[in-house]
Amino acid sequence: NWKLTNYIEKTVAEIKEKVGNEKVILGLSGGVDSSVAAVLVHKAIGDQLTCIFVDTGLLRKDEGRKVMENYGEHFHMKIDMVDASERFLSKLKGVSDPEAKRKVIGNEFVAVFDEESHKFEGAKFLAQGTIYPDVIESQSVKGPSAVIKSHHNVGGLPEEMKMELLEPLRELFKDEVRKVGEELGIPHHLVMRHPFPGPGLGIRILGEVDEEKVKILQEADDIFIEELYKNNLYEQVSQAFVVLLPVKSVGVMGDERTYEYTAVVRSANTIDFMTATFSKFPWEFLETVSNRIINEVRGINRVAYDISSKPPATIEWE
Ligand code: XMP
Repeated sequence: NWKLTNYIEKTVAEIKEKVGNEKVILGLSGGVDSSVAAVLVHKAIGDQLTCIFVDTGLLRKDEGRKVMENYGEHFHMKIDMVDASERFLSKLKGVSDPEAKRKVIGNEFVAVFDEESHKFEGAKFLAQGTIYPDVIESQSVKGPSAVIKSHHNVGGLPEEMKMELLEPLRELFKDEVRKVGEELGIPHHLVMRHPFPGPGLGIRILGEVDEEKVKILQEADDIFIEELYKNNLYEQVSQAFVVLLPVKSVGVMGDERTYEYTAVVRSANTIDFMTATFSKFPWEFLETVSNRIINEVRGINRVAYDISSKPPATIEWE
């Protein structure tokens, strides 16, 4: 695709010109936008770029390991991985209100990112995966990445780290970002990933979050996503995940009575995330997902499928 190749060549040249011999840092989330931005900047300036990846402990199963493999090893990028899971979990202790949880997670993310970026005091630029829709509606509901965006916006940077912004995807729509990503050699399944909210599993565990619930949810969610790929359904839906309810119900396993949590499988089809319908999966598919979750995940003995549309329901449960 000559247009994309042109775009990449032009942007790489611009980044080289702008950055010169300076250092750049970038907050890598593992999502499409920050990953494509990272690979593009890396193509231009190589090891002058360091990515900072914050593991909040509220990410999908094995997310940190996968990011190190996919981007650290495969693309040879320098990634500074910060395991902040204990910090996030301890700040979340006793917090059960959805907006309060968002605030705690957002604030903690900014604090961790700021502390970490002090290690790179010499960096002159902060690269970000801001895309065109972010530019036109900077009011959109977004998590830590947007917090970082506004926090680090012109004038918003702490005195000691006034960095210039580098936003190589600013002119692109999502589908163009995906094409650029593929052209850069990022595997198809990675450029097609669904969006993932900044507060992560923190808002998919209803009520108070703790380590045990995170583990349970990660396992259940991983099974659902795996089955979506296996059945070629992942790209048929816009966003799919599992929610863990703090509700226990009675079940039976062998001769034993069980009393465990309920998981809700959620999948939405949407164009703009403002309105959405639930995904109309074949029963057999839902049956497989339910059976696997109940049989393989200790702590869940009941699975429900969310058949609500937006509005009046939202896509997330919190
Ligand atoms: P709702 O639940 O409002 O979600 O229908 C619409 C889209 O926004 C995402 N979402 C968030 N993303 N921080 C984020 O970065 C948040 O606090 C947040 N809340 C919702 C949601 O995943 C969906 O894509």
